[in-house]
Amino acid sequence: MKKNTKLYETVAAMMAPGKGILAADESDASAGKRLAMVHLPNEPENRQDFRELLFTAPGIEEFLSGVIMYDSSIKNFTDDGVPFPDVLIAKGILPGIKVDTGTVDLHGFKGEVVTQGLDNLAARFAEYYDLGARFAKWRAVITIDEDELPTDAAITMNCIQLARYAQLAQAAGIVPMVEPEVIFAGDHNQAKSELVTTHVLQILFQTLITYKVDLEGLILKSSMVIAGDMCPEQSTPEQVANATLRTFHMSVPHEVGGIVFLSGGQSPKRSTENLNAIAKMGPQPWPITYSYSRAIEEPTLLAWQGKPENIPEAQKVLLHACKMNSLASQGMYDAAADNILK
Ligand code: G3H
Repeated sequence: MKKNTKLYETVAAMMAPGKGILAADESDASAGKRLAMVHLPNEPENRQDFRELLFTAPGIEEFLSGVIMYDSSIKNFTDDGVPFPDVLIAKGILPGIKVDTGTVDLHGFKGEVVTQGLDNLAARFAEYYDLGARFAKWRAVITIDEDELPTDAAITMNCIQLARYAQLAQAAGIVPMVEPEVIFAGDHNQAKSELVTTHVLQILFQTLITYKVDLEGLILKSSMVIAGDMCPEQSTPEQVANATLRTFHMSVPHEVGGIVFLSGGQSPKRSTENLNAIAKMGPQPWPITYSYSRAIEEPTLLAWQGKPENIPEAQKVLLHACKMNSLASQGMYDAAADNILK
């Protein structure tokens, strides 16, 4: 297969040691849920203010290699009229774009969904490339429900869509981040989560290979292997690290350019501690780092509260969360000494 040197350069920049990727890619509706946490209405000005706070934070480039945006934010500007992607590029941070348009019910499969957004995707990729995007994200949602879910039918359809998206991204010179998010909500135990995540990733990579996606020019965005949030038996960071790495070794080909984690609704501190435990297990065939949304944005939002006078403090909290996760990605996070992340 032809070598995609440009894609590999992007992958190497994304996975630069000690850096991670901020997922600031909420749809306008999901951004509203975040703003509601601090009682702000879901208005374009509030969404813009929050993103400007994130993207202009002094020093953020030390800990971030990339930021994932959404259609409305990659086309948005600072108050001074600088396009958001240009703000990031000036700091040496790669702009990324979430290209899926959310999920809909999979007809006939109660409780399961498929992701939308393949229509016109080639044209959208061309537009996003011109705006500066060099990597993209597509999220598939996999739900665990004891013996019933997920079904192989839902997994297969989601994996085919991920493969089609990844093909189109690579054809456009954009690195695809493929995200089959195994949902953390539920009462399933960690063993069930491991079984399902391994199975999903095995089907995903078989499908990507079938459709000739270049695995070196691709990033996997994965859930950590943890028990459901309603399971009475919760896993320690070491148990999470062992199960997660066992899963990857059973399913992720070594050529894959890198693996990043979503936080999935874990608290900021827990997601950082778990990443740290994973990194402490030593070097793996793939570089591994974080790509959190909630675990980084929520403490920042709480410090901001929508007040201009709180911006410097909120940016400090943001920098702290990114720095702690950057340390964690190298197995150097000291949870006991961190009294900011909760
Ligand atoms: O698709 C999910 C985001 O990229 C990561 O979000 O860290 O809040 O799970 P999260």
